[in-house]
Amino acid sequence: MSVQFPPSAAPRSAYPVDVLPATVRRRLLELADAGRPLSAYVYDGDVAAGRARELRAALPDWAAVYYAVKANSFPGVVEALAPYVDGFEVASVAELELALHAGRCAGRCAGRHADRPADQDAENLSAPVPVVAAGPAKSVPGIEPPAGVKVILEPGRFVVADCGWYAAEVTDVKTSYGELFAVLRGGINHFQLPTSWDIVHNMAVLPVEKWGEECPRPTAENTRVTVVGELCTSEDTLLRDVLIDRVRAGDLIVFPCAGSYGWEFAMHSFLGHPVAERHLL
Ligand SMILES: Cc1ncc(COP(=O)(O)O)c(C=O)c1O
Repeated sequence: MSVQFPPSAAPRSAYPVDVLPATVRRRLLELADAGRPLSAYVYDGDVAAGRARELRAALPDWAAVYYAVKANSFPGVVEALAPYVDGFEVASVAELELALHAGRCAGRCAGRHADRPADQDAENLSAPVPVVAAGPAKSVPGIEPPAGVKVILEPGRFVVADCGWYAAEVTDVKTSYGELFAVLRGGINHFQLPTSWDIVHNMAVLPVEKWGEECPRPTAENTRVTVVGELCTSEDTLLRDVLIDRVRAGDLIVFPCAGSYGWEFAMHSFLGHPVAERHLL
């Protein structure tokens, strides 16, 4: 069995901190001041709503946009999207209930998953909304459907990827076998996306000035680090060999573009650490 690591980030540098919107930085610093090591998602519902509005405006009348709830099922995000989408694509009873609540029972839902037992199939629920079946739409360039036909698109990540930031406190900066590591409160058990795809998911270091410990502050400067979580497996690696100006224990490492398949993909129960917090800006 081989261990799945994200690809090396070299020769990339970490993002500069101003890649993080001021509102996000402020909120994260408030959360970091709460006295416990932070691991949290922050979502901006306006960013998701803006993306849905843009998509809706760019599409012809025969296309409908059903947001795929699986991409981000945080109630505040689903509610922020409700006025700007034609409906929701759901894959389970829980997602259907979320969509019904967000749409105040006025929306439409599409849901059909062949791999689900029939009694968990959204089409088989007596929901007080019209339910239609629709497959995933890959692309529609140059296609004009027959008159009266509605084509349902089910975008997930396009709508919500940019509306979320995952932030975790650095609990230690250490060297092991000649390699420098920044250890986070919350790796793949909170944010598994970087190991799920063969991608470099870059981050920014958000400095936190407060340091309440009596020991010297573990610090690395002008060097490459590998960013890992606290699980007992080397697979708990989020980013490898990224060049940083400085990272210290107590700082926050923040991953932008964490709005889709972030919290939803994570291995929350593995080793039983507390689940990452979720907040709406
Ligand atoms: C049936 C269905 N619709 C929509 C989506 C959303 O896909 P994406 O987030 O890539 O837009 C998925 C993703 O798995 C899906 O299974």
